[in-house]
Amino acid sequence: MPAESLDQIVSLCKRRGFIFPGSEIYGGLANTWDYGPLGAELKNNVKKQWWRTFVHKRPEIVGLDSAILMNPKVWEASGHLDLFTDLMSTCKFCKKHIRMDHWDMLIEQSSWFQSLTELYKQKEVTLSDLKTWGEKTATKLAPNLALVRNPSITISWVSEKLESLSWSETEILSSIRELIRYLATEQLTRDGLQTPCPYCGGELTEGKSFNLLFKTHQGVIEGEGTPIYLRPETAQGIFANFKNIIDTERPRLPFGVAQIGKAFRNEITPGNFTFRTREFEQMEIEYFVEPGKDADAFEEWKAQVWDWYMDLGIDKDTMRIREHDKDELSHYSSRTIDIEYKFPWGWGELFGLANRGDFDLVQHEKFSGEELKYTDPNDPKNKFIPHVIEPSFGCDRTVLTFLLDAYTEEELENGDVRTLMKFDPRLSPVDIAILPLSKKDHLIEKAQEIHKMILDKTDLVTDFDITGSIGKRYRRQDEIGTPKAVTVDFGTLGEDKKQGKKDTVTIRDRDSLKQERIAVGELIEKLAGF
Ligand code: GAP
Repeated sequence: MPAESLDQIVSLCKRRGFIFPGSEIYGGLANTWDYGPLGAELKNNVKKQWWRTFVHKRPEIVGLDSAILMNPKVWEASGHLDLFTDLMSTCKFCKKHIRMDHWDMLIEQSSWFQSLTELYKQKEVTLSDLKTWGEKTATKLAPNLALVRNPSITISWVSEKLESLSWSETEILSSIRELIRYLATEQLTRDGLQTPCPYCGGELTEGKSFNLLFKTHQGVIEGEGTPIYLRPETAQGIFANFKNIIDTERPRLPFGVAQIGKAFRNEITPGNFTFRTREFEQMEIEYFVEPGKDADAFEEWKAQVWDWYMDLGIDKDTMRIREHDKDELSHYSSRTIDIEYKFPWGWGELFGLANRGDFDLVQHEKFSGEELKYTDPNDPKNKFIPHVIEPSFGCDRTVLTFLLDAYTEEELENGDVRTLMKFDPRLSPVDIAILPLSKKDHLIEKAQEIHKMILDKTDLVTDFDITGSIGKRYRRQDEIGTPKAVTVDFGTLGEDKKQGKKDTVTIRDRDSLKQERIAVGELIEKLAGF
């Protein structure tokens, strides 16, 4: 059972050292996060699995690690300077900025929308219920809502709307959203409907286009020279290196170039932990195909990416595919689908697959003056610009998904609840814990000897833990998702036959809780098996 609330994961991540708030000792910097010792291992494992599946196991795909800072002409050519914009409004009261295509989502997450939803779920709501809600709840949660500031006028106006609302479970959210717009209205005309601020209910300014590129400057003197930008996607580093790759690798179509790296966007409404941040990591592939073969490649990638998430243990019922409507397509895409995950706050984009056609290479040819064509190896006269299918994974969102999906609470026979992270063993930050049963010196020495043997003979990531009772240490390993724990006890030393034979240890399995006694001499072979 995946985590039901984001708070469960945020607090486990902080407590156990997966993810910390950024710059915490200075009071933090909003929406920045640092991966701690376990988070760094988990994220590296995600990247390792991705690289293994899509680069090392795919002879036609090569890797790249291009610079974050690029010639600003790249962003002119790619269209990001003109078109990478979102519609933004600002609340006239609390001054918060709102990305307008996120309004529905932000409203649904707001405490006042949720309290109104609760009210509507209980029973059919009368005007007097709404008045009470306005006086008691909205005054606290949405103090700038017109209903609160001007109750008599708004209430009378809303009564008509209440009559016409439909109360079925499925329509309740959209009905309430609509009602909220009415509640926010100060004008007493139907045309005066407003979109209130999700945070305080106040009136929003008219939407303006806002460019998401992160500007910086290069060189020692600020303000001199043209601005440069932190890349908003890793993709353009691939397109800008297309000629280099063609010249050095001589690949045949179809072929792909994969890259993992940081991207930056001046997001208007970051939030939901690591889901939307201004600095994040992407794992992207630009897959070049012959024009006309785009549609098939698109379908193949859709299936391969879905399978990758499944193979690493994501529950299929928590993922779905969403096709973009024509009016929401990015400027470069003729078709896009998202793989969405059921996050605790609702469905959200985890991965995007786009058909970029020849858009980028045509643009870069035009702006750079370099020929960016592929030459048919069977017919050197046949030169053309290949088409591109782009599978684009958010690395941080993928890590967050694995964290949410792995989170499990299990009731034990004695009534206690144990929390465990059921990571696929390929992703677990620690492969194996070595736990001496007690702190007696000679027992610790024996455990250290076994630990050294594991380190010398395997590539496993280990955790040697002697703090606290054995029960507490098992709990900790469960909570960080370590698949196996090796316990070294007095049986191992030949001092207590009841615990086990001399030179044997216990291996405990995280998920089944089964304990197996095996000879130290067989340990390496046994551990190599997972
Ligand atoms: N090159 C195509 C591209 O960048 P996108 O849909 O804008 O497409 C791809 O981004 C993926 O990057 C998304 O599916 C998401 O997982 C991740 N992503 C985008 N913006 C993000 C943000 N602000 N914070 C975290 N991840 C983000």
